[in-house]
This record gives sequence, C-alpha cells and structure tokens, in this order.
Amino acid sequence: MALLEIKHLKLDFGSGANAARAVDDVSFAIAAGETVCLVGESGCGKSVTAQSIARLVPTPPAVYAGGEILLNGRDVLRMSGKELRQIRGRVVSYIFQEPGASLNPVFRVGNQIKESLKLHQPDRATDAEVVRLLKLVGIPAPEARQRNYPFEMSGGMQQRVMIAMALASAPQLLVADEPTTALDVTIQAQILDLLRDLKQRLGMAILLITHNLGIVGDLADRVAVMYAGQIVELAPARDLLRRPLHPYTRALMNSVPKLRGNLERLSAIPGNVPRTGNFPPGCRFAPRCPVARPECSASEPGLVEVEAGRWVRCPYWNESLK
Ligand SMILES: Nc1ncnc2c1ncn2[C@@H]1O[C@H](COP(=O)(O)OP(=O)(O)OP(=O)(O)O)[C@@H](O)[C@H]1O
Ligand code: SF4
Ligand SMILES: [Mg+2]
Repeated sequence: MALLEIKHLKLDFGSGANAARAVDDVSFAIAAGETVCLVGESGCGKSVTAQSIARLVPTPPAVYAGGEILLNGRDVLRMSGKELRQIRGRVVSYIFQEPGASLNPVFRVGNQIKESLKLHQPDRATDAEVVRLLKLVGIPAPEARQRNYPFEMSGGMQQRVMIAMALASAPQLLVADEPTTALDVTIQAQILDLLRDLKQRLGMAILLITHNLGIVGDLADRVAVMYAGQIVELAPARDLLRRPLHPYTRALMNSVPKLRGNLERLSAIPGNVPRTGNFPPGCRFAPRCPVARPECSASEPGLVEVEAGRWVRCPYWNESLK
C-alpha cells in the first residue's frame, strides 16, 4: 500500500454557477520513503493539491468536489476533526516558502521546536532533542543558536529551523512547498542538499513543490507536472529530465533558471497560465503550445500511460518529438 494515494481529486473554489475548478481529476501516489516533485508555473494548482493532503484548504471558499486522498489507506476527505489533528504533523508535516512568516517572532527558536515536540512527541520534548534536531538540519553551534530569536537568524537558517520544527513530529511525509524560492541561489542549493541528506538518513517521503524543473535533479524519484489544474506528465525523474514527452514539460525545461549561476531565465514560456474557471476548450495548453494543431482544441486529452510508468496528457507527444 502506498503511503499517499490521491485518486481523481477535484477541488472547486466557490459553488454552483460560480464554481471554478482549481484541481481537476488529479491522481498520483507516493510510496514510503519516495520523493515526488510537483512542478508547474504559478497558479497551476500545486499548493492547493498539496494542502489538500492534510485538508488544510479552507472550506469555504473551497469545495472538495470528488475523489479520495488515502493516507495509509484512510481517506482524509472523510476524516473527523479529531482524526485530522492526529495526522497533521505526525503523518504529514509542511514547510512553506517564507520561513519568517511561519516562525513566531517573540519566541526563541529552541522554544518553538520544543513546543512542536510537546505537541507530537511529549516524551522527547527535551533540550537535548532540540539540540539534536538543530544539529540534524545543519545549524552550527546549536546549543547557542537555540536561544536565538528568528530575527537574529538569516533566511537560510530560519528555513533550517522550520525544517527542524517539521521533523519534530517525526512525519512519514514532509511536504515542502517552494521551500527555497525566497532564498538566494547559494542558500537554495544548501537547503536542497539538506533535504537530500534528510531523505537518505530518515527515510521519510517528500513531496517537493517547485516552479523550477532545474531543482528536481537528483532529489526526486518521480515528477508530476501540473498545468491548469491537471497533471499533464507523470514520470520517473530521470526519464522525464532526459526525455520530456509533453510539450509543456519541454517548454518548462527550456525556461529553467540556472540554480548555481545567475537567475536569468533562458526563455520564458510565451503567454500566461489560463485563470481558474476560464480554461480554454480541449487541451488547456493549446493557446501556448508550439506544436498545437486545430484538433487540439476540439476535445480534452486524457492522461495516458504511453510507456511503462510514463503518463502523458497529449495524444501527439510522439509526433511532436520528431
Ligand atoms: N482562496 C482562494 N480562493 C479562490 N481561488 C483560489 C484560492 N486559492 C487558490 N485559488 C486558485 O487556485 C488556483 C491554484 O492555486 P495554487 O495556489 O494551488 O497555485 P500554485 O500552483 O501553487 O501557484 P504558485 O506557484 O503561485 O504558488 C489559482 O489559480 C488560484 O486562482
Ligand atoms: S494536445 Fe495539442 S496543444 Fe495540447 S500539448 Fe498536445 S500538441 Fe500541444
Ligand atoms: Mg503555490
């Protein structure tokens, strides 16, 4: 059994005539210890999909309109408030883009980690465990650093504290939503190295969300590419990076900013992601697709397994590779 299995998830914002579908029939799984990257431009539905795993999207305005989110076989969409509190932290834990915004400015970072331990692992809520976690996330001189307030730390160090707080609940799945986007490139690389190291040492599963295919590299086992609320390509990371099959994935590859160089884009994808509730007919990528043909706007392509383990939402992927 997979640790996480999302099946045909549908999520709307608003209801009735105003309903706009932000997540449309999304399915993917994460095995214990596996790292999956969810990639796509801004507004594609990555965060809403990821936050649904612990049912964190406020309802209203959101409405879960269909599907299942099975965590260890239990459907999150049917859980009681008590069951949800039990899985949040202990089974799935989150780190977000802005570490500063998630840390409480008036408490020392060590105390904040200890509070997280008290909540999830009360028998381990000790100073020694706080220091061990700070050391685990690569904070130098952890005995002294635990007494710092967040403002006394750099953005990179704050993000390490956030990761330590997420690890304090010993989650089976760590969801990292653009954890490096707010940091400068050198620090981004260090945080990614840390995630890679933690994955190996702790064996936890990771869902890493990013708009930058360039950071997927050797961290991800599999990649799901999202466009306009749907998965358009799902594949083992190595295969996808070596030979992207969907025209959108190929366009994303060409717009990868260089992580260790400057942040200049090689080429942005022309046009914009269509707004939720305003998707074009047929293939949603057609207005921006460099190899679109008239048939593309006639009917919506399905997500099809075109090679073992490789799923693509474009009936013309093979011809357009030529
Ligand atoms: N609270 C909300 N009310 C209405 N619509 C929302 C709300 N939150 C998100 N949406 C819509 O859902 C869509 C998906 O949003 P989401 O935040 O998941 O995108 P994303 O892929 O994470 O983008 P980004 O890279 O900018 O973080 C967006 O187009 C947005 O319009
Ligand atoms: S279906 Fe057509 S428009 Fe859509 S990605 Fe494939 S070729 Fe491009
Ligand atoms: Mg997001």
